Amino acid sequence: MLAVRPADFYHCRMDILSAPLIDPFARAIDYLRVSVTDRCDFRCVYCMSENMTFLPKADLLTLEELDRLCSTFVGMGVKKLRITGGEPLVRKGILTFFQAMSRHLASGALQELTLTTNGSQLRKYAADLAAVGVKRINVSLDTLDAAKFAQITRWGRLDQVLDGIQAAKDAGLRVKINAVALKGFNEDELFTLTDWCADQGHDLTFIEVMPMGDLGNEDRLDQYWSLKDLRSTIAARHRLTDLTVRTGGPARYVRVEETGQKIGFITPLTHNFCESCNRVRLTCTGELYMCLGQEDMADLRAPLRASPDDAALQAAIRAAIARKPKGHDFDYSRQTVAGKVTRHMSHTGG
Ligand code: GTP
Ligand code: 5AD
Ligand code: SF4
Repeated sequence: MLAVRPADFYHCRMDILSAPLIDPFARAIDYLRVSVTDRCDFRCVYCMSENMTFLPKADLLTLEELDRLCSTFVGMGVKKLRITGGEPLVRKGILTFFQAMSRHLASGALQELTLTTNGSQLRKYAADLAAVGVKRINVSLDTLDAAKFAQITRWGRLDQVLDGIQAAKDAGLRVKINAVALKGFNEDELFTLTDWCADQGHDLTFIEVMPMGDLGNEDRLDQYWSLKDLRSTIAARHRLTDLTVRTGGPARYVRVEETGQKIGFITPLTHNFCESCNRVRLTCTGELYMCLGQEDMADLRAPLRASPDDAALQAAIRAAIARKPKGHDFDYSRQTVAGKVTRHMSHTGG
């Protein structure tokens, strides 16, 4: 008979607990996006309705609970942590949370701690974020025209965001601008945006608009500007070289030879990148979404609160990863919107 010594059992259990997170399609999950609030000081038309009902504050996980959850993921092999929202910088005490997370950078467990923001609060936070080890941030900005900015964000002010971006730059943070490509809205600003980013030294990524959120009469097909077309327009003016470099997200990059700038394309519609998906999303109430484009989620709040020991939480995380789907079903190719998800983008932070 084969004897199992207690020490072997212990090592075996430790191996299981520290085994990397691998989903059913052999994708390693090492990127966690954490939405720390569903609230935002803007109301972007493709993301939220104007009169959103937000979660009662009592439903939110505390920052200590979020810390425990994120730290558990880091212990299970997550290497990149992106803080999102809503707008992450409107959550009270957010800097303390970044400070707490930076210990995982210091230990070497985490390779990147970063955020996606609308930029409105960067003047206040940029220097402190840089001080805790954030190196690079993504800022959402679809237009450089103040009137159009007010129209698309409903409540936002362009000058405040530009000032925030400048503060980030001054603090030594690298900035990547995220622009949703919107037909009839920012088509005429394509080169204004690329030239401005080249000038300012910002990277730039375009995103295809996804059918998320129940936004009444808005028609995604009317808004949809394929990045295949957008790329062709840039290629008519510039020489583009495909780059193999990746930032850990779904963007594929090109270099513009004339300016040296890097432009990224996030193409959930024209080119599905799900086969290389490496991420899951945690909401501010402890729901874990295994795919942005699907409704399934796992509740991590219950195992988190059930016991101070992390074993049940880790088991719940593994069980969730084991049902990560192959990908989204977004599809506009038949002139209808297929694969729509009613959840608002602000729920999971993009
Ligand atoms: P980096 O590569 O680190 O710069 O970041 P990222 O592209 O992962 O993060 P960012 O927050 O800038 O993502 C930009 C947007 O791309 C998101 O808000 C989503 O709209 C879209 N996106 C990011 N990840 C996914 C994904 O897994 N699936 C889909 N369909 N869209 C995604
Ligand atoms: N489709 C594509 N991108 C979206 N974003 C928000 N809603 C959508 C959508 N429906 C983007 C924002 C921001 C990021 C968090 O997600 O512009 O860059
Ligand atoms: Fe991953 Fe889902 Fe995004 Fe595809 S749509 S890349 S599977 S999160």
